Amino acid sequence: MRATSTATPNIAIMKYWGKRNDALKLPLNDSISITLDSTFSSKTTVDFSEHYKEDSLVIDGVPASDKEMRNAMLVLYYLRKKAGLSCHARIESGNNFPKGAGIASSSSGYAALAVAAAAALNLKLRPDEISIAARLGSGSACRSVIGGFVQWKKGGKEDGSDSYSEQLADEHHWKEFRIVTAITSEEPKIIGSTEGMKRTVDTSKLYGKRLETLPDIIEQSKEAIKRKNHEELFRIAMAESNSLHAVMLDSWPPLIYLNETSRKIISKIHEFNAAKKETAAAYSFDAGPNCHIFTLAKHEAELIAAIKEISGVSRIHTSVVGKGPEVITQT
Ligand code: PMV
Repeated sequence: MRATSTATPNIAIMKYWGKRNDALKLPLNDSISITLDSTFSSKTTVDFSEHYKEDSLVIDGVPASDKEMRNAMLVLYYLRKKAGLSCHARIESGNNFPKGAGIASSSSGYAALAVAAAAALNLKLRPDEISIAARLGSGSACRSVIGGFVQWKKGGKEDGSDSYSEQLADEHHWKEFRIVTAITSEEPKIIGSTEGMKRTVDTSKLYGKRLETLPDIIEQSKEAIKRKNHEELFRIAMAESNSLHAVMLDSWPPLIYLNETSRKIISKIHEFNAAKKETAAAYSFDAGPNCHIFTLAKHEAELIAAIKEISGVSRIHTSVVGKGPEVITQT
């Protein structure tokens, strides 16, 4: 029982930051994301066999860390239970981009794992079940199992059965949409998102205010996506990224993920928009200094030229909105 699948990372416009249940990776707020095309992609093969004595996971040719192994086991445990099977699996995963190259590989990696494992087990799962399986590997992965614009509903149930992602619009909805990724550091982040979000929830006084204001902003961004109102969406996206980094800085000890180049990009985008007399681009930062810039096709070349001028930007990649995971082989 073997299957191979691909999945791509997603970038959140409205960010997930803070869990209500660490083990089940249940979030304290809804989030909205865009699944990227295969510019960056993870490919995972899962092979279940009664001959295997234990589960194994190799990522980019290297045995997985304890944490990666633990998270992958949570995905397998959920799916094996659904299939009523107990045999072990060999998992091989690879990325078409270097791990630690500043692109979050966990969202695509665990999404590819959930999709491949479900296919190998021949499970005919509903989209919410696949999303839950991926969520157990990494929260943000539950959005990468779906293409286009995606909302992860935080849910309210203790067992997490209502915490999964749904599509808001598919990859054809907004053809002009572009995501330009500017790499400002190739270093792995100093504080991982699990530890970082816990610190914010435990210590930031501003965090409660963020949670209070998010539901309205989520509704506004959904409306902006539906109407393809880029100026509204881009304004919300920048304010949201700044809100996230405000509560990070308000945590104790403070979480400082942006670097000097990130701040130069922020200023450059505001200058770019002022010159265009239009909100033509938006920056968005996760728990790291690399920048995802949302823009439209007509502004792409000019925007890239402006970002290239910034010292400290080592690489630039462009993606369109992606279609989500694919099962390549199943035997
Ligand atoms: O799922 P994780 O643990 O990789 O957390 C992702 C958190 C952010 O990237 C900062 C925000 C998000 O919604 O993707």
